[in-house]
Amino acid sequence: MSLYANPSLYRAFFAPSVELRTSIDALVRKHVGAKDVTKLRVIDPACGPATWIEHFADRGAKVVGIDIEPKAVKAARLHLGDRPATVVEGDMRQPPASVKGPFALAINPDNSVGHLGGLVDVAAHLAAMHRLLRSPKGDGGHYVVGLAVREPGDELDVGTVYERGPVEVGGGGLAALRTETLGLVDVQHPDGLRCERIRHTILAVGVEGVGPIVLEQYDLLTFPFATLRSLLAENGPWTVVDCRDATDEALPRKRLGPGAGDVLLTLRADKAATSSARRLRLGRATKKR
Ligand SMILES: C[S@@+](CC[C@H](N)C(=O)[O-])C[C@H]1O[C@@H](n2cnc3c(N)ncnc32)[C@H](O)[C@@H]1O
Repeated sequence: MSLYANPSLYRAFFAPSVELRTSIDALVRKHVGAKDVTKLRVIDPACGPATWIEHFADRGAKVVGIDIEPKAVKAARLHLGDRPATVVEGDMRQPPASVKGPFALAINPDNSVGHLGGLVDVAAHLAAMHRLLRSPKGDGGHYVVGLAVREPGDELDVGTVYERGPVEVGGGGLAALRTETLGLVDVQHPDGLRCERIRHTILAVGVEGVGPIVLEQYDLLTFPFATLRSLLAENGPWTVVDCRDATDEALPRKRLGPGAGDVLLTLRADKAATSSARRLRLGRATKKR
């Protein structure tokens, strides 16, 4: 069983709290500046069972979700019902051609990027998102994305990082989750990246297809700061307009730098100068000479 292939369980454990939704709303207001959310098009490139796009759909935004897991896609469609939403099965490295921009906002806070296979995948994902984003004013849209910045010498305290439940699971039953970090592991990644090993322990009673005890373990990519900086420059360009501590639901500000840890970044998809802007700059430069 994978948590991602059991959408009821995923939503029971990871539906965002009121505090986190309030923090995300404040971030979006600050950077996207949309007073009227109903005019926004919002995309989550790894949407799971609509945990975040449902939040924006509830506020009237037109939302699009992509996920590689068919059961998550099915559940997301079910939860979104007849709201203005499209959810498609696909890969965040190369979103399906049916997904057309522009979007003012992309939202992907829960380190889905960590599931990618390496630098080539992350580069493809960033470039694809950059192409899809544009604000209603015509300049760059924004990408709110969670990821981990770790340096080669960094160590992580091994232990529990999240606990939830017992909670009622949609569709019936009760379940409890403990998530532990097993630290940064050297998995001999071909790109030299290190991964954080995560273990979920789930206890479940009366949940269809689950239990009573499930152990699940996976590795999430982490990025040295310099690597992240190159990725953003070469597959955009992106400007980091905001950095928050992703381990605190109040999302306090955090300095982005080497070893910043689990962060929530707001990236602006900067667009290359248009030919008229380039001509203008050229004109000014010519005048000066
Ligand atoms: C941590 S969940 C995030 C769900 C949602 N974005 C949220 O923040 O709650 C990660 C999701 O990424 C999806 N995923 C993993 N690799 C993917 C890929 N290459 N393309 C699209 N989705 C992917 C998984 O199926 C899973 O639903």
